[in-house]
Amino acid sequence: MSATPTPLRDRAMDAAVIAGRDRENILVGNEIIRHRLSSRLIHWSVAVTFFVSLFTGLPIWTPVFAWMAPLFGGLQVCRWLHPWAGVAFMLAVGAMFFAWLDEMIMTSEEKSWIGPKLFEYLRYQSDDSEVGKYNGGQKIFFYTSALGALGLLVTGIVMWFPLSFSEIVRELAIILHDVTFVLFTISIVFHIYLGTAAEPGTFGSMTRGTVTRAWAKLHHPKWYKDVTASGK
Ligand code: HEM
Repeated sequence: MSATPTPLRDRAMDAAVIAGRDRENILVGNEIIRHRLSSRLIHWSVAVTFFVSLFTGLPIWTPVFAWMAPLFGGLQVCRWLHPWAGVAFMLAVGAMFFAWLDEMIMTSEEKSWIGPKLFEYLRYQSDDSEVGKYNGGQKIFFYTSALGALGLLVTGIVMWFPLSFSEIVRELAIILHDVTFVLFTISIVFHIYLGTAAEPGTFGSMTRGTVTRAWAKLHHPKWYKDVTASGK
């Protein structure tokens, strides 16, 4: 008895997942591979270490969040775990920085995203026709994330080894650490919103690794042209 043949569509979908293990920016069937497996693993390591750092840090910051401490085994565990999670976060962000740097170089037009353009984009009022793989807003988020992570690490080290630093340095470190993590958390809320509810189809690029042609054409038309013109 012959086995039921796999429908053509399913075979094409599997081929995209397989190709996405080590390749990206290519068309497979009707899907485009946007993030290869290694990029996705690095990104999710950044996300997990960010949230472990956040949720172990908040109960240390203020008793308002004391209820979070038992999730990790209590406040003492949080005090021990938080700096190590922070180091892991910095390492993951470092890996992400060097993995994506080549694709994140800003063109002179994209520099105009620093300012009102970013807000126009968030209100769906900007012209996206020249957008490549990443738009100016994504690139700005990439660089500010790296800078923010570095700032958190440096100020965190001061608090980790307080006896090695003067009082003024310690006080400055506390203020900078708090301001940076609050701004970082706000930007992550926007990032998650844009990567999920605001732009359907984006989340799949970080799970399955792929996006549809329609998604690419709509959000990253120049990248879509480059990927499809290469004939791969
Ligand atoms: C649950 C949490 C998160 C979700 C759902 C999420 C989702 C996503 C998605 C879907 C993309 C791909 C966007 C695209 O291909 O156009 C992406 C990219 C990216 N993510 Fe996340 N992410 C999360 C957490 C984080 C965290 C904590 C950071 C911390 C730095 C981060 C940094 C980045 C960066 C730098 C990019 C590339 C630039 C961009 O697309 O904005 N992500 N994320």
